[in-house]
Amino acid sequence: MSRTWTREERYRVLQDAEELRPLHDAISRSPFRQTCHIQPVTGLLNDPNGFGYHDGLWHLFYQWCPWGAVHGLKYWYHVTSKDLVTWKNEGVCIRPDTEWDNRGAYSGSALSGHGSLYLYYTGNHRDPDWTRKSYTCLVRLSDDGTAVKAKAPLFGPNPDYTEHQRDPKILQDPETGLYWILLGAQTKDHHGCVICYKSKEPFSGWTFAGQLKVPGFEDFGDMWECPSIERINGTDILLFCPQHLTIEGRGNAQNHNGYLLGHMDFDTLTFTPLGRFHVLDRGFDSYAAECAATIHHNKDRAILVAWMGLPDVAYPTDEENWANCLTLPRVLRMRGRRLIQTPIEELKLLRGEPVAPEADTLPAAADLEVLCGGGDLALTLFAKPDHSGGFRITWDSQKKVFTVDRSGMTNRFNEAEGETRSRNLSGLSHLRIFLDHSSIEIFVNDGDAVFTSRVFPTKEEHGYVLQGDGRLRAWEMLPAVQDDFVI
Ligand code: FRU
Repeated sequence: MSRTWTREERYRVLQDAEELRPLHDAISRSPFRQTCHIQPVTGLLNDPNGFGYHDGLWHLFYQWCPWGAVHGLKYWYHVTSKDLVTWKNEGVCIRPDTEWDNRGAYSGSALSGHGSLYLYYTGNHRDPDWTRKSYTCLVRLSDDGTAVKAKAPLFGPNPDYTEHQRDPKILQDPETGLYWILLGAQTKDHHGCVICYKSKEPFSGWTFAGQLKVPGFEDFGDMWECPSIERINGTDILLFCPQHLTIEGRGNAQNHNGYLLGHMDFDTLTFTPLGRFHVLDRGFDSYAAECAATIHHNKDRAILVAWMGLPDVAYPTDEENWANCLTLPRVLRMRGRRLIQTPIEELKLLRGEPVAPEADTLPAAADLEVLCGGGDLALTLFAKPDHSGGFRITWDSQKKVFTVDRSGMTNRFNEAEGETRSRNLSGLSHLRIFLDHSSIEIFVNDGDAVFTSRVFPTKEEHGYVLQGDGRLRAWEMLPAVQDDFVI
């Protein structure tokens, strides 16, 4: 049972980093701490924010609540990398210390250029009576990593929408040079949408331009969080997180992260979808994905990172006072008219010793490849020594259904949203699977589908069994995130 938190506890301001040291020491003894994934130094991590490349370094931030596994006062915690796989803790960057962000520095994105990395975020203000007001705020990341806040927000709450309006994504339209900020919002009659602001220059002059028209998606969830638009090889991709609706294949889950392929017209503020809404990740735990900011908007790829977790879900580490991590970075590309997702190439740098073919257990962090012949296949990971239980991955070649099932694990959680996820595929040729101490990411057929899940194996759940038409190779993965106490 997770503990209950009072509002005072959740919104307590971090004064002295040393207050967190005992928490960090205790957490670092958890068997579920990751070695290849970005995870909270203490407390709770949620969305990735401000992902961008500047001056030879990748910068990434995460929504952070220091005190425990609870959504309270949010900070932006900063990590950096030279290669996108080894990450260094840099400490807190944006603190909720102004009137506009008095109850949290909420999600946002980065703009790389004009000599710095600029961060756009939502100042989550609450009046004394707890009425929420969202401000779109700007920060310049100085060379020493400190946040230099603009003197005032770029703009305040839009009175024509409910209090739910947040998560600025900054873009530049390459055709006109105009800058755009997209916000996820909720109309007064409770429909999720995107609202758009524009300016000729990125640091001032912002005006409301209108609500994005997305024909066919006027009634699709009651709030859209974390919107963004990427253009890959001439196709526009509208990514967002619709809330409070069920989607086929996602059990009872209410919050989703997905995308529409189509065409964006900034003149008419219309995104014309070509086809249906696609779920970005077919597994259980993935939300609030963010693509790295790039200077050129029509490119052949984008790099994406997501929160490996979901809103309103309790996880077994809640009791240890920490929760969640980020996914490994992925490359998005178009293959014909489909969006595909593959692990970034650099992950091969982390391959250590190969696992001996006769071994019947796998290392806690491992990179697996399965060459599949196309016939039926059943791969059980995190099995008990007698091969029972575990996380089951199956391919039914008759029905052409690929399924993951985590109901066989000893530590079960969030059963209410369903413990299996399936996807129809025309065939099965390849699996690339990343295991870490408490996660599994499965890339199917070189990008056809991804299934990301948290998994909390007991000490004895490291066996594996492969049956059917596949050949497995595995490597131990070298540790790539340091867990240093840097606040
Ligand atoms: C998505 C989200 C965002 C918000 C942030 C707060 O998970 O709810 O909409 O900015 O988290 O932490």
